[in-house]
Amino acid sequence: MDYLPYDPGRDEPQLTAAQSAAFDVNPEHMALVIQKASHENIRVVREERNLAGGLFILPFGQWFMGRCVPTDGIAAVAVAPHMRGRGAAGRMMRGVLREARERGTPLSALFPASVTLYRKFGYELAGSRFSANLPTASIPRFEHNAKDADIRPIIESDVNEIRENQQTWTASGHGQLRRIDYLWNHIKHRRGQDALGFCVRENGRITGHIYYRQERAEDVHHQRMIVTDLAYTTPAAAQRLLTFMSDHRSLVQEVLLPTGPNESILTLFPELTFKLTLDIHWMIRILDASAALQQRGYPPATNGRLHLDITDDLFTENAGRFVLNLSNGTPTVENGGDGSFKLDIRTLASLYTGFSTATELATIGKIETTAEQAALADTIFAAPYPWMRDQF
Ligand SMILES: CC(C)(COP(=O)(O)OP(=O)(O)OC[C@H]1O[C@@H](n2cnc3c(N)ncnc32)[C@H](O)[C@@H]1OP(=O)(O)O)[C@@H](O)C(=O)NCCC(=O)NCCS
Repeated sequence: MDYLPYDPGRDEPQLTAAQSAAFDVNPEHMALVIQKASHENIRVVREERNLAGGLFILPFGQWFMGRCVPTDGIAAVAVAPHMRGRGAAGRMMRGVLREARERGTPLSALFPASVTLYRKFGYELAGSRFSANLPTASIPRFEHNAKDADIRPIIESDVNEIRENQQTWTASGHGQLRRIDYLWNHIKHRRGQDALGFCVRENGRITGHIYYRQERAEDVHHQRMIVTDLAYTTPAAAQRLLTFMSDHRSLVQEVLLPTGPNESILTLFPELTFKLTLDIHWMIRILDASAALQQRGYPPATNGRLHLDITDDLFTENAGRFVLNLSNGTPTVENGGDGSFKLDIRTLASLYTGFSTATELATIGKIETTAEQAALADTIFAAPYPWMRDQF
């Protein structure tokens, strides 16, 4: 099978058919999604006249401890039903990862339908996305002076400021994305449905926003609000957005918010009336260990040298010994060292994002090292729990 760039003239009907069959999306809508992914970011595998499958590359960034690391998100991986089980997905994944590595992109990220499948290509669990179910009647309300924290529908001229404010919000998170247009589109239009958008202004400046759609649970008197995006960068914006959700309580019984395990806004609830459920874990693949370690942020006062010895079956040039040197939180990475901290590239993914600690990973045999080295790695990779609002 051949791994190829997307050629709309040749591939469009078969790619649309493969992806709409895989994701249960109607073909007209799938064709629009393919348009929005930008043709240069689509790859396919073909066996002569037959398209076997395709995927989208989403070149975004992922924030880790205050630094944004370039990442290729992988989305819409699909193989035509009659072409499955013959190595098409494997051919695509190896192709796309090799390409990203050659471009110098240090990370790749995805939401897995099967963890087994992606582990074969070096991905490992690295963070999560939860869903909070907020009974609308229990959402706290706050007094507002409309002059201080005004909320109103988003209009086209707000979009740049909303993006900037959202960047400020995500940059303070760990695992959140620096979005590209495709992801903003995904928030505003999903499965053919448009989201409603409202923004908060304080002294003329946008400090928060929400995108959501309302859907009937049983009938018009029983509805839910499905939030597709929420960001707030001041106390007044967080409070105003909660009050806004509460203002829907006559017909909307529950608000569903994509979140992490401990989003700060939930601490404003007077009681634990909300329920958190795990939607899905996401995975990352470290394509260039040296660049990825160099480009991540670290706790500011951290010092120490970690002698990594990494194995990587897919990219042998990514394997070997590296020394990660932290000087007051500033990293440098050199080749060499004594290799006293041994791990596979997949294990490095879970450690890198703070999904697991080094001590935990050593306890289950995924890292071979001393207790002292594991404790040092725990301080180097110490981070808030990695989560993201987006799903792609
Ligand atoms: C998942 C999917 C992309 C796999 O495509 P495929 O071409 O059949 O996969 P391959 O033949 O290349 O398999 C590659 C490897 O992954 C394994 N694998 C494939 N599908 C798997 C699954 N669902 N669960 C576990 N392992 C799987 C294969 O056994 C193979 O391993 P091996 O090399 O050790 O034999 C395809 O079944 C599909 O399109 N499914 C519907 C859409 C979907 O789930 N997409 C993934 C979204 S994240």
